[in-house]
Amino acid sequence: MQTRRLGRSSLELPVVTFGAWAIGGGPYWNGTDDEQALAALAAAFDAGMHAVDTAPIYGMGHSETIVGRALAAQRRANGSTSDIKVCTKIGLRWDCDDGELFFESQSADGKPLAVYRNSRPESVRLECERSLQRLGVDHIHLLQVHWPDPTTPVSDTMGALAELHAEGKIGAIGVSNYDPELLEEAQVALGDLPLASTQPKYSLVAREIEADVLPWVIEHEVGVLAYSPLEQGLLTGKVRGDRSFADTEGRARRPSFQDRNRQAVNALLDEVVAPIAAELGASLAQTVIAWTVARPGISSALVGARTPEQARENAAAGELQIPPEAWSRIDTAFAALRLESEPV
Ligand SMILES: NC(=O)c1ccc[n+]([C@@H]2O[C@H](COP(=O)([O-])OP(=O)(O)OC[C@H]3O[C@@H](n4cnc5c(N)ncnc54)[C@H](OP(=O)(O)O)[C@@H]3O)[C@@H](O)[C@H]2O)c1
Repeated sequence: MQTRRLGRSSLELPVVTFGAWAIGGGPYWNGTDDEQALAALAAAFDAGMHAVDTAPIYGMGHSETIVGRALAAQRRANGSTSDIKVCTKIGLRWDCDDGELFFESQSADGKPLAVYRNSRPESVRLECERSLQRLGVDHIHLLQVHWPDPTTPVSDTMGALAELHAEGKIGAIGVSNYDPELLEEAQVALGDLPLASTQPKYSLVAREIEADVLPWVIEHEVGVLAYSPLEQGLLTGKVRGDRSFADTEGRARRPSFQDRNRQAVNALLDEVVAPIAAELGASLAQTVIAWTVARPGISSALVGARTPEQARENAAAGELQIPPEAWSRIDTAFAALRLESEPV
């Protein structure tokens, strides 16, 4: 699969990276099937999707543990996993109450717990050590700050990450959900060390970063890992009016999944994307992924998958070339779409 270098760092990622949030399970995704998750990761690696994005908070350590098991299986089968890039994060803690309260959640056994934004230097180091252990590796290719922590100066967090980089524990430094002002602060704090990437939400129906983050990263040569590029499945055409989600599942409460929004998105998929997908011999999901990674400034699309079939389909999207005229047709049609965002 085609790879792209993240900004001025030396790290290269494939244009489609495996997003490992959903395979961590937890209440948002209504649990998960570990064997299915391992099979999905194996299928992704075999299909050339040689990068995975995870985080400690995904399933409270479970996603990283599953990724660690998948890497161990690859190591047993192939002798090495040095070609698979491992990206994880720091900055969301559920086991201590330092920092700023972010949201209330629950543990795997249903106990309530609170998640705090905490990017304090001592926490950065502790989280990195725990991630190395869960992942079963001695090096993380990209360590990202998951969400801004207003209680910790950005320069303190970057200082801790730079130390981990100097020690060889991490290969590159990234952030996520940062606005241009924070991106600037992070880059200044790192000095000569490049800020490799930022990780914002980006898809055909979530295009806010086109106004500020994308122009900033292009000017400053910082990579972009686009998250939720399929709007959690809505942009695959497989979330029609008849698909239901458990009340407890996060997607049941997601504004884009409300009936009128489903109808509007599926109408555009059918009218504009389907004929292009048919010409390319691709699925709707593949065409949407190809649109995403062809947007200037985007380095890699982080695509979640819970089955081997989805993983293979998404990996093949990394080989798909979308002609400029077709890209523009999709771009223009969705730019005019206004989703209703009132809560359920
Ligand atoms: N930094 C952050 O704050 C942040 C936030 C969100 C996500 N992320 C990252 O971005 C990654 C991806 O985001 P995401 O999981 O929210 O959304 P996504 O990639 O847009 O959607 C993933 C979901 O889409 C469905 N899907 C995937 N491939 C499919 C296919 N080929 N055909 C049909 N359905 C398909 C699956 O739904 P079903 O499960 O229903 O099959 C899957 O769980 C995450 O795993 C994580 O690494 C980061």
